[in-house]
Amino acid sequence: MKSLDDIKIAKNSQKLTVITAYDALFARLMEPYADMILVGDSLNMSFGGKNDTLDITMDEMIYHAKAVRRGAPKSFIILDMPFGSEVDEKTAITNAVRAYKEAGVDAVKLEGGIEKAHIVKALTQNKIAVMGHIGLQPQCVRKDGGYKVKGRTHDDANRLFEDAKAIEASGAFAIVIEGVKSEVAQSITKDLLIPTIGIGAGEATDGQVLVWSDMLGFFEEFTPKFVRKYMDGAGLAKKAFEGFSADIKNGLFPSKTESY
Ligand code: KIV
Repeated sequence: MKSLDDIKIAKNSQKLTVITAYDALFARLMEPYADMILVGDSLNMSFGGKNDTLDITMDEMIYHAKAVRRGAPKSFIILDMPFGSEVDEKTAITNAVRAYKEAGVDAVKLEGGIEKAHIVKALTQNKIAVMGHIGLQPQCVRKDGGYKVKGRTHDDANRLFEDAKAIEASGAFAIVIEGVKSEVAQSITKDLLIPTIGIGAGEATDGQVLVWSDMLGFFEEFTPKFVRKYMDGAGLAKKAFEGFSADIKNGLFPSKTESY
C-alpha cells in the first residue's frame, strides 16, 4: 500500500495512477495498479443514473467506500466529500471523521479553492488527510450552468494559481486539477510542492485520474475529450447479455454439465 509519504515523494520520481471505484468487485481488480483509489461522487451519475453529482448523500458515499475498502484492503482510499457535507468546519469535520471511522478511508477529497481553504485547514488540523480539487468543479454545475474548462484567460489562470497555493498552504497532501488548460496545469504543478493529479488537465501533472466506467467504456451517455477508453465495456457486456438471452431462448442454457 502507498503511504501518504510515498504519495508526496512521488512528485519528483514517478507519475501517480488514480482510478475511481464504487464497489468491491472493481476495487479488487484495480488494486495492484492504482496508487490511490478514489470513491468519487461521480458514482451518482455513472452508477446511480443521475444527471449530476449533487444529490448523493454522505450515507451513500460511506456505503460505497466500505465496499471499496473490503475489495481493496491494502489500497490508499480517498472518499469524495459530497455536496453539502463540508459547508462549514464543524460539518466537514463530523462527516470526514465518519468517513474515517465507518469506511476506514485514508483521506477525503473536497472541491474548492481559496474559499474552501479554511475547511481544508480545519480538517488537516484535526488529523484528517485532505486532497484538494480545483479547476472544473462538478459540484458547481448548477451554479455555473454547465461544465466549463478553466484557465482560458489570464485572470482565470491567476485565480487557479491562487486556489492551488491556498489549498496547499492549508495542509492538503495532493490536489486534483480538473478541466484546466494544459499550460496552466503545468505551471501550477511546477510551483507546488505537493503532487497534482490531472483529469482533463494535460500531460504535465504529477498523476492522472480517470473514472473507472469511462476508461472501461461502460458509460455511454457522453465521453469527454480527455477520456481514453481502454476497453469497450458496454459493447462486451451487451454481447454477453445477448448471448445469454439467445442461449436461453434456443434451449442451449443450461447444458448437462451446468446442471446437477
Ligand atoms: O467524482 C469523481 O470521480 C472525481 C474525479 C473525476 C476526480 O472527482
